[in-house]
Amino acid sequence: MGNYNVKGTDLEWLDGVYEKLLVKMERECERVGSDIPYTPHNGRYQDLGMPGGLYFWTNGFWPGILWQMYGATGRTAYRKAAEGVEERLDETLHGFEGLHHDVGFMFLPSSVINYRETKNPDSRRRALHAANLLAGRFNPVGKYIRAWNESFQNDGTDISGWMIIDCLMNIPLLYWASRETGDPRFTHIAVSHAKTAQRYIVREDGSCNHIVIFDSLTGEFVDNPGGQGYGRGSSWSRGQSWAVYGFALSYRHTGDESFLNTAKQCAHYCISNLAVSDWLPLVDYRAPEEPVKYDSTAGMITACGLLELAGHVGEQEKSLYTKAAIRILRACDAKFSNWDPEMDSIVDGGTFFYHDPSGENTEVPIIYGDYYFIEAILRLKDKALFLW
Ligand code: GLY
Repeated sequence: MGNYNVKGTDLEWLDGVYEKLLVKMERECERVGSDIPYTPHNGRYQDLGMPGGLYFWTNGFWPGILWQMYGATGRTAYRKAAEGVEERLDETLHGFEGLHHDVGFMFLPSSVINYRETKNPDSRRRALHAANLLAGRFNPVGKYIRAWNESFQNDGTDISGWMIIDCLMNIPLLYWASRETGDPRFTHIAVSHAKTAQRYIVREDGSCNHIVIFDSLTGEFVDNPGGQGYGRGSSWSRGQSWAVYGFALSYRHTGDESFLNTAKQCAHYCISNLAVSDWLPLVDYRAPEEPVKYDSTAGMITACGLLELAGHVGEQEKSLYTKAAIRILRACDAKFSNWDPEMDSIVDGGTFFYHDPSGENTEVPIIYGDYYFIEAILRLKDKALFLW
């Protein structure tokens, strides 16, 4: 990672953001400690203030932030707070039933990174446990990792054959487990899943479906319904960002060039859409023009994906991806950032899903928006830890 060669006004902006980050995160860490935040209310995070409590898929992002800040500064307080969250997540490994495919999001930025940094054997055990749970969700007939739990939703819908684009960010846990144990089964599963995602999620123009439904008995394709975006056939921007970053990571971990090309295809689609919206990500790139709804988190994740891609290509493409990432980050920083050290969270403007009658999940600060913003800034400063 690193060596992005940031220059001129971009460098001035980057250095300024980094200084603000150091001040803000030191205060935020003092306030939040080993609580597990999601979105602030009146400028304050609440512990486990998310649906699903301890099992919620975003619970790795605060320890991820803390590890990134620890990596950049060496301050012990960050590491201690991250370790505290990781210990709290033990309960989920014992409880099991609330865990689903998002164990990668939960345990890569907590246990895997702790083990990498400190060689803590408990962290290794937690991460291998989580990797085995993820591998256990593989459907060998359909060759995909199943997304959510409960075979039937409340309305009777059978979801035992559903996979989603987001899972590309969970499978690095499997690549890690294979390297750690010397057992290639985990990688076989990850690669099979990523190939299925290439085939059934990514469309020819680089746009993506969110969900694929398979018949879980026969493995046959059934449908691509709408998901968290506008609807069937649309293009949910956070899903697009998971595709850019996720396929780039599968390339990093396997060297399979088809993953690199798919990541580029999805990246080019995102860049062309962002270039016509002042580099501010809409919630869905194929929603009606009105109402305008943004999702800053999609921008942050896309930026990290582009910076990951920049590390795997020649100089000209590297410059393209790096410049696009910086444009997104600067646009979102100017519109959405809150740098007040006495208020929790930085990046406002995150949207969980398109159709949100309550409005409570629309254009609000969300913990993973901050995580990916911080990862991107630290990547550009050559101070990021690699968590995925
Ligand atoms: N992984 C769930 C989401 O991106 O909303």
